[in-house]
Amino acid sequence: MFGIERSDKCAAKFSTIIALLLITIVIISIIPVSLFSSFASIHVLLIRSTGPPEHITSSKFLSVVLDSSMIIDHFSNFNMRNKKLRTMIKNLSPGYLRIGGTMADRIKFSRRNFQQLETYSKQNQIACLLGKEKCVSLNQNYIISDKQWLELYNLTVDTGFTILFDLNSLIRNSDGSWNHRNAEEMIKFSNDNKMDVVWQLGNEPNAYQYIFNYTVSPSQLVKDFARLRRILNKYPVYKNKMLVGPDITNPAPEDSQSIAYLQGFLASDGGEVVSAITFHQYYFNGKLATQDDFLHPDNYNKLIAQIELVKGIVSLYKTKTKTVWLSK
Ligand SMILES: *[C@@H]1O[C@H](CO)[C@@H](O)[C@H](O)[C@H]1NC(C)=O
Ligand SMILES: *[C@@H]1O[C@H](CO)[C@@H](O)[C@H](O)[C@H]1NC(C)=O
Repeated sequence: MFGIERSDKCAAKFSTIIALLLITIVIISIIPVSLFSSFASIHVLLIRSTGPPEHITSSKFLSVVLDSSMIIDHFSNFNMRNKKLRTMIKNLSPGYLRIGGTMADRIKFSRRNFQQLETYSKQNQIACLLGKEKCVSLNQNYIISDKQWLELYNLTVDTGFTILFDLNSLIRNSDGSWNHRNAEEMIKFSNDNKMDVVWQLGNEPNAYQYIFNYTVSPSQLVKDFARLRRILNKYPVYKNKMLVGPDITNPAPEDSQSIAYLQGFLASDGGEVVSAITFHQYYFNGKLATQDDFLHPDNYNKLIAQIELVKGIVSLYKTKTKTVWLSK
């Protein structure tokens, strides 16, 4: 998630570091070429670090996402205590560690031992996770235990990251309003443990119909965010702290449904209940993409158009000065 148009004192320094990093990466990527083919031409990209920086980013500009599907898989391939892993993560800090994704809207918090609550076959889940994404049952909730939550928190604090946790927005009452009980249990627990967390509510709500066969209107989602804001304000650790959203997906010119959702959210004063307006971006469908797709600069330039599009939409509403974040 990248803070767009945010300034920071160490930004100039940061951009120097990025420039050095890029140079290092370029150099490292050249080495194998020169080793294996002595006739290959060598391209050197030189980035001068003199003069004022072209763009200023947040110190958390380089952030990462941990997919919520890891939670339903009980972190089976992710040992949070692994020293090597922690050393590698530490080198990417500071930043946000967003814990979100499609399955964020299928996760519940529990202070009971999650083993007792397991109702599905672990074997099937792993097979599905390694194979087709759709294989994961989308019709049931999964558990994140208090112990796992504390472990994740420990990992982030010790590596210099800040958790961005995406709460389940699809636990709903029969009238369609958000049922906040489980989220509040998690928030209260986190407050009691003095955990510094930035909260989110739901993942890619404009795609709920497609993924979960359930629709949450933008105006309803704004009410739910407002409810979450009031809950957070009840707890000292989160009073006036960040809540970001709505994490709409792929606001491309050809995807009018995604843009309409963002417009609906902002028209219902959604900008007033979030600290930053978030969106997700995809260059192409990774499962169908070819090698050429990954190497074609035009694909990567799509991001510029999407950022401009979102900023253009945001500028039309009352909360036009609100920061925009790319959160995936
Ligand atoms: C994380 O856990 C380790 C081992 O239990 C402990 O030494 C460390 O202080 C913990 N870090 C935080 C931030 O709680
Ligand atoms: C989608 O939801 C509707 C209404 O709840 C239901 O009638 C329909 O069978 C569902 N479709 C699928 C594919 O599950």
